[in-house]
Amino acid sequence: MAATGAAVGLGNIWKFPYLTGIHGGSAFVLVYILCVAALGIPMMMAEVMLGRRGRQTPINSMRTLAAENNASQGWQLIGWAGTLAGMLILSYYSVIGGWTIGYIVHSATGSFSGLSGDGASTLFGEFVGNPWIQVTWHTLFMIITMYIVARGVQSGLEKAVVFLMPALFVLLLILVGYAMTTGYFMKGLTFLFTPDFSHFSGTSMLTAMGQAFFSLSLGMGTIMIYGSYVPKGTSIASTSIMIAVADTGVALIAGMAIFPIVFANALEPGAGPSLIFETIPVAFGNMSGGMLFGTLFFVLLLVAAWTSSISLIEPAVTLMIENFNMTRKQAAVWTGLATWLLGFGTAFSFNIWSEVKVFDMTFFDHLDFLTSNLMLPLGGISIAIFAGWLMTKETSKAELDMNSEVGYSIWQVLIRYIAPIAVSIVLLHAIGIF
Ligand code: PHE
Repeated sequence: MAATGAAVGLGNIWKFPYLTGIHGGSAFVLVYILCVAALGIPMMMAEVMLGRRGRQTPINSMRTLAAENNASQGWQLIGWAGTLAGMLILSYYSVIGGWTIGYIVHSATGSFSGLSGDGASTLFGEFVGNPWIQVTWHTLFMIITMYIVARGVQSGLEKAVVFLMPALFVLLLILVGYAMTTGYFMKGLTFLFTPDFSHFSGTSMLTAMGQAFFSLSLGMGTIMIYGSYVPKGTSIASTSIMIAVADTGVALIAGMAIFPIVFANALEPGAGPSLIFETIPVAFGNMSGGMLFGTLFFVLLLVAAWTSSISLIEPAVTLMIENFNMTRKQAAVWTGLATWLLGFGTAFSFNIWSEVKVFDMTFFDHLDFLTSNLMLPLGGISIAIFAGWLMTKETSKAELDMNSEVGYSIWQVLIRYIAPIAVSIVLLHAIGIF
């Protein structure tokens, strides 16, 4: 449950729909689901397994596991790169988390009431166009994240998540219900599920794969930390499958809620990061009880973002404590400050720096590309190679303890061959080598 709470976040509700919109719909969804099934699940099993065996933070776990398997200590790099990726991701995640805070205020003060598609675009444009508003909410989001991290009281939040995430799911279903009344529900479903590869490119493929890693929180060692708490005797395979199914389910339901509203209000499916902030307010602004549900929705989205953000920074904080002799408070302050400052780059990417582009991409675009599309897949390949090739079969077999021989063999093939080869091909293709 805790790992599902950390995995379900802005990635499912904010990012998945907008990436699907940009990359033309169904083909992206299909490739995404394939990536979750063929790469995500076996890699999650590998990460949980390494975590349970190593029983420490990712860097120190990898050190122990490398020694145990006579492998080079260079494998610790997985932990270091993952720790860095977590901070880089949080720096922009926090800005978007700030958007959810801003939208709680908008909803609670009635800004959505009777809103049209155009009205929602204008509202968002003004909101995101103001650098000071962006910095304010980003700062607030970082403060609430680092407060919990500094006090080390995640467990309270994780317990709350067990109730709050199902509530978020129910509100998503209410949105799907509203989407059904728009008259564009079938159009939304067709867009999501009728294969159409006409807008699909090599970049789309890489993005779908990167999104699978991002949404499942894979390739950076976070899942290893959760793995280190998994008791012996718990089935790693069924736990991983459950997390992946729940995470993908939330993303697909979010898509089913959003695209009918997009089409019904003549909004642009490829609008980008603004997509849910332009569609969801229209839905809540035009249903009865919308002010209450809308506010509740953004509160729950904030909680989802919050739990994910804690798991993004926790590796960096533990690293500072264990390897650099800091207290938890000091570690939280320093890593938090660095991440907060870097976040300005993203906060300004939507206003004063929106035209500062390299290769036609803003600061935010580069940060997102670097982390989701390069760092997480590379981290994932490394984990796959370590789990598949360096760890002995006896060890992995004993750790995974699957009651089906065939299941274990399938995992072996996926983790040893399919994962490293598929990820490499997609990466090489994206940089133009294939
Ligand atoms: N999976 C989270 C989301 O979908 C983001 C995340 C990525 C969290 C990596 C932790 C580690 O929002």
